Order: sequence, then C-alpha cells, then structure tokens
Amino acid sequence: MTDLSSTPAIPVTIHRGDYAPLEWQIPDIALDFALGVEQTKVSAALSVVRHAAAPAPLLLRGDGLTAAEVRVDGAVWNDWRMDGSDLIVDLGDRTAAVVEVDTVIAPASNTQLMGLYASNNMLCTQCEAEGFRRITFHPDRPDVLSRYKVRMTGDKATFPILLSNGNCVEQGEAGNDHWALWEDPWPKPSYLFALVAGDLVVNRDSFTTMSGREVELGIWVRKGDEARTGHAMKALQDSMAWDERVYGREYDLDLFNIVAVSDFNMGAMENKGLNIFNTRYILADPDTATDVDFDGVEGVVAHEYFHNWSGNRVTCRDWFQLSLKEGFTVFRDQNFSADMGSPPVKRIEDVRLLRAAQFPEDAGPLAHPIRPDSYQEISNFYTATIYNKGAEIIRMMATLLGPERFRKGTDLYFDRHDGEAATCEDFVRAMEEGGDIDLKQFRRWYEQAGTPRLSLTLAQDGDDWSLDIRQAVPPTPGQPDKAPMMMPLRLAAFAMDGSGATLPDTLVTLSGAAQRVPLGRFASRPALSVNRGFSAPVIVDFERAPGELAWLAAHDDDPFARYEALQQLMLDTLVAAASGDTGDTQAVIDAVAQTLAGAAADPAFVAEAVLLPSEAFIGDQMVTVDPDAIRRERLALQAAIGVALESEWRAVLAGAAPPATDLSSKAKGGRRLRGVALAYLAATGQDDVPALAFGIFSGADGMTERQAALATLAHGDSDERAHALDIFYQRYRDNPLVLDKWFQVQAWSLRPDTVDAVKALAQHPDFTLANPNRVRSLYGAFSGNQAAFHQADGAGYRLIADLVIALDPKNPQTAAKMIPPLGRWKRFDEARGAMMRAELERILAQPGLSRDVTEQASKSLA
Ligand code: PHE
Ligand code: ZN
Repeated sequence: MTDLSSTPAIPVTIHRGDYAPLEWQIPDIALDFALGVEQTKVSAALSVVRHAAAPAPLLLRGDGLTAAEVRVDGAVWNDWRMDGSDLIVDLGDRTAAVVEVDTVIAPASNTQLMGLYASNNMLCTQCEAEGFRRITFHPDRPDVLSRYKVRMTGDKATFPILLSNGNCVEQGEAGNDHWALWEDPWPKPSYLFALVAGDLVVNRDSFTTMSGREVELGIWVRKGDEARTGHAMKALQDSMAWDERVYGREYDLDLFNIVAVSDFNMGAMENKGLNIFNTRYILADPDTATDVDFDGVEGVVAHEYFHNWSGNRVTCRDWFQLSLKEGFTVFRDQNFSADMGSPPVKRIEDVRLLRAAQFPEDAGPLAHPIRPDSYQEISNFYTATIYNKGAEIIRMMATLLGPERFRKGTDLYFDRHDGEAATCEDFVRAMEEGGDIDLKQFRRWYEQAGTPRLSLTLAQDGDDWSLDIRQAVPPTPGQPDKAPMMMPLRLAAFAMDGSGATLPDTLVTLSGAAQRVPLGRFASRPALSVNRGFSAPVIVDFERAPGELAWLAAHDDDPFARYEALQQLMLDTLVAAASGDTGDTQAVIDAVAQTLAGAAADPAFVAEAVLLPSEAFIGDQMVTVDPDAIRRERLALQAAIGVALESEWRAVLAGAAPPATDLSSKAKGGRRLRGVALAYLAATGQDDVPALAFGIFSGADGMTERQAALATLAHGDSDERAHALDIFYQRYRDNPLVLDKWFQVQAWSLRPDTVDAVKALAQHPDFTLANPNRVRSLYGAFSGNQAAFHQADGAGYRLIADLVIALDPKNPQTAAKMIPPLGRWKRFDEARGAMMRAELERILAQPGLSRDVTEQASKSLA
C-alpha cells in the first residue's frame, strides 16, 4: 500500500504563455461577515456575467474551504462539485447569475497569515497574491475586477472598530453586536480586498487634493501606540502631494486608512483605501526607532500609497506581470525618498541593496527574469529581482527618455489603462509612444535573467582615447544563451595631470556586444568615471590602478561615482588579501582620510563612502567564497584604518550627537558617521572602547545612537556587552519591535560563538515562530552573517534547515524565504557545498512539505 500522506505532491508549474481570459466576469460582489476570532461566517454573493460565447462552468478557487450549499439567483442549486479544493458551478447556458456560497473560517488557527487571521485579538486580512480564496470561493486572479459591498457584524466590545475598503455607508447596533456596511466604488481585483475588526485607536488628519477635495486620513493602531504614528502620517501627506506634483496623480476616495498589525508576512499591503502595515513600517519615535527605521516608514508608506495608481487603478493582468506594479512603484518610492532627503545617499543605499539582495539572486539557482516565464508558488516571486531590478529597468527607461518624455509615457500609461488589468508590454508600449523611442531591444530586460557584465578597456591612438566596451549576459537556469541588452551608460573622463581636460557627463546608449566610445584628447591615460549614478544595473570589469581610483574618489564630480571609486579601491584590496595576495592598504587609508575630511559638509555621504564593503559583497567578487579569510581580512583592514585615523574617529565621537528628534539629512548623516567611527575605533581593540561605547549607549537620547553602540559592544566580549544587553532587554522587553533589535544585534555579532548564541536565543521565552518579524530578527539576521552562517562544521546550515522544517507547517511563506542562502552552495568550497546540499535534501525529505518550500528547495539543488 502507498501512504499517500507522505507522497510529496507533484508540483504544478504555471506558465505565462498559458494565459487565457476568464469566461466569467464578476462586476459586483457582496460579502457578509459574521465575525469571530475563533470562527467567522462568510456569505458571498457573486454577480457573474458570462463573456464566453459558449457555455462554460464557473471555476471558483478555494483553499481550505468547504461549501455546504450553493444558491443561484436565490434558489438552492445542485449543479456543482468540488475539484480538489476548488468549487465548480455549472450554470448551464446562463449568461448571468447571482451565485451565493457560505463558508466558515477559523481566523485564530490561521498561522499562515494569509486570508482572514487573528493578530492580538484583532481580525485582519491579507489577500495578495492568492489569499482571498482562503476567505471565500472566487476565481481569485487579478484580471477579475469587481465592485465590493462588505457588511460585517461583530461583538461591540471585541471589535469596536470595523473597517473595509472604500467608504462606510451605513452602520448600526443589535444587542451586544454592531455592524457596518462598506462600499468601494472602484472595481478592484480580489487581492486588494481588506477587512479589519478590532480594538484600535486612530491618528486622524486630512489632505486636500490638487482639485480641492478633502480626504480624511486615519492611521489605526493598538492603544498606546498612537504617539508613534506621527512620522507615518507626515510621510502619507508628503506622498500624496508628491504624486500630484511629479506624476499628476490625485487620490480618488474621501477616506484613506492605514492599519498596523504586528503579525505580518511582508512589509505592508496596498489594499484599496485600507492599507495594512507591518507595525515596523508605521510605529516610530526617536526613543524606539533608528534613522533607518524612520526612513523605512517613510519609504514604505509612500510605496503603498503610490500603489493606488501603479497597482490599483492600473492593476496586473496576471502574476507574471508583478513587476509592472512592483518595479514601477519601487522606482517611484525611491525617487520620493531621494526628494525628501539626499538624492546621492539614497542612490547609494538603493544600489547597495540591489547588490546585496538581487545580484546574488541573479547569479544563483533561483535567478528569474523580472517577468518570469513560470512559477509553482507565486509567493516565491516577491523577490529582489521583481522589486529592485524591476525598479532599475524602469529607471533605465526614465534615463533613456529624459524627464519630460518619461512623464508623457507615464501619463499615457495611466490614462490608457485606467481601470484595467495591464501587462508589462502595455507599459513599455506607453513608454515607446509617449517617449517616441524604439524599445524593441530594451524588452530583453523583461525576458533575460542574469546581471550583464561590461568589460572595459581603454584604447589610445596618439592623444585620442576611446573606450572599448564588451557586454555579456551570463547563463541562468533555463537560459543558456543570451543576447546583448540595450542600456544607458553615463560616463565622463578626467585628466589627472591637472590640465583640466575632461569629457563631461555623457549618456551612451549601449546595444551591441562590443562597442567603442570616443573619449576625446588627453595627454595621458584619463581617469574614467563610468556607470555614473549607476545608470545601468550591471557589473563593470575594469582594471584600474589604486591611484586612479583614489583620484576619482577625491575628484569625480558625481557623488555616486566618488563613492564607487572608494568602494572599488577597498574591494580590490580586500579581495586580494582574502585570496592570499597583498592589497594596497595605505592607498585605502589615504583615500578614507581624504574623504573623511569632507565630513562636516556632508556627513551622510561621507559615512556611506567610508564604510567597508560587506563580507557578502567581498565574497561575490571571489571565484570561491572563503568566509573565514574574508572576515579576517575585513577586520584587519578595519583595524588598520581604525589605528591610522584614530584621532579622526575620536574627534567625530567627541562632538555632540545631533538631537535624536532632528531628522534632517544632515543630522541623520551625523549619527551615521558616529556609528561608523565607533566601529572603526572598536576594531583597533583599544582598552577604553567598551567603556566609550557603553557611555554612548547609556547617554544616547535616541535609538540610532543606542543601537549602534549596542551593536558594537555585541561584537566583543566585554563586561559592558553583557550589561548593555541586559539593560536594553529590561527596558524594552514589552516593545516587540525594539525587542527584535535585541535579537538582531546578537545574531549579527562577529563573535565566533554566534551559532551557539542564536541556538540559545531560539529557546528564549520571548522567541516565537508565530511572529515573522521575530523570526527574521533572529534567523534572517543570522543567515546574513556570512562567517557565522558558513561556519566550517555546518552548524549554521543545520540551524536554518531546522528552522525551515519547524516553520513550514505553520507559515510556509516565511519558511520559504529562509531557503535562498542555502542555495548558494556552488559559490563555496566542496565541503561547505556538500553540507548545504545535504540540508536542502533533508528539507525536501520532510513529509507534507508546502508548495512554497518544495519549489525553493528543489530549485536550489539544481
Ligand atoms: N504588494 C505588497 C507591496 O509591495 C507586498 C505584499 C505581497 C504584501 C504579498 C503582502 C503579501 O507593497
Ligand atoms: Zn509593492
């Protein structure tokens, strides 16, 4: 006999090419919820209209639902059957009908956090991508747009606040219960449906739109949290004004609500008129949030707000088009944040994130184009590629078109597709027509995965110099051969001899596999400033002497290029050292000193520029990653810079920190620089550093300084370390977001015993697998700690695999996100690679594994 329960389900692969419009549309939906934390009854009435010429059964997806009864036009209907978990209703030759189904769901036992679930006694929904089918039977695909009427009834004391999309049109009381009726006038796909019921308090404000309409704004949180919503409210108002000014997009309802929940799989969700947020992207005050947290709140509030146009008014035809809304919306939020703060610093941060999260993905077994061709579980495709590389693709089009023509293109896109479910192709076509440009070759960015590499060489003909560029896109799974891409490459060239000769900022459009760009006349080899502003998301291979990089780090007129030059100098030195060669430490020290001299004028930029590249990024440059050598050499260089510039670092720390309430770029930069200075000083190993760090920790007037000092202490083994961790824990044990930091700094620690420390922290009474933020703060931080995760005995791999196995039955989405670090086995030595594969195999051998984890683990082994 076969035991079916332990036979892994054969994964079903969905292909982009198989798209077909649905035979039925659903112009109107009425939902009635009888709310309960343990049990909620849902009655759904779908007004369906047939679009196919011939009769076709109505396929309604379900996930974990049972249908007791189906009614059609008010009468019990027997022509239905279950197909697995889906409901198929045969409507004969009807062309329209009202189909009613009742379901009962159990929010309190919904640990996946998809569909309707309970978080701290409050009920909330998460429907993207396919969570609506866990609430009621529905086609649950984004090209089915409906007007929703949502009625909900619940106990007044448990659920004093009842919210859904759109406007509340009626409410009333009935004994201990009360009810509310919400109507959303805008047709929307099911993934944008939302409902919240609970005991919440609101921060209210308003915004007057460009046409003079007053919009009521509400940020809903648990009692006691309302004082920490001010930054989010301001970010919302700023975003609304920015989208009007920059894209001409006005908000379209009289009400905009945001609800913060502590148990949430992602950052936030753009449900129409009712955004639902992870608390970490709403709650912030100087005592509990760092500057990075404040910027995160601003960026994510903007991101979700911008989705109202790029995502909601114009949505996606199918999930293969996900980057249509996500790439574009990330691009929009990046530019918003740049406008709110320092554009060069924002660009540096965005590129650093792209290189840390997306480049490795593009170089590994999970590589996929920004518009994938197939998937098994769509939740696995909310990736850095879809989001961040997707944003880079939009940015390149904006660069190629220039601001006016880009705006014409986006106007055309929004106007032409308003109210529709569109495709990436629709977007590119709007860019072509609005921008009057041919993007035929550019479309390859949507088709080809992998980070293109540009190999550069300078050629000389007398005093005439030119640049030879060769382009290659590496093979990725399923795509062995690639064609060259079209891309904008910004460059400039400078004479280093003081003659002043330059090639000013030039935009070159690359398209061929090999291309020659004339640079002009220079008496000797010019310093080349290339991919300025990171105009194309590529890797540039270009041999340059340390002196040339140092010169650019000091003189380039593009701040991003200055940053790049110094980073490249550091990277060359570190890669050489980690590979057993000697790097030019003195050149790095001199360049850091030179950059540091500009700290007073622009501390934010300087803090970014003098930071050493991460261990992971150093590893990405090596043929085989050697985590121990990288850690050793990076710490050694940090110490050398620390010692050589000790008085400079001490001087940075001797000044007063900017007040924590000052959130200007300059103040944030000042604090960031102080954190960097403290880290360099700590690397020197001088005896007074723990006391100095402890002093900063205890005297800090805000979380940025406090966390930076705590993180520095956490790397060492001083008495101050234990003391500070204890104080921090006692002070913030009741604040989950701050307690996350306590777990995180310990998982980030450079101490050799971090694997054991993480193992012990997983047993801490405050650790729980039920809260995704907590899981990420411990295990997510740990798997990003390269030398710890790759500890030679494989204990780090085992720890992550054990987590995946324990978490998968509860929350497959979050479990699957932990797998990619294990999939990078090809990049490491044989012994590590074998252990990583063995853990992936052990995961795959678990009975009853989710589709999410099965897809990621099996693809990671290939
Ligand atoms: N669409 C959300 C965003 O990018 C992300 C998200 C995806 C949230 C899936 C929840 C579930 O803003
Ligand atoms: Zn988004």
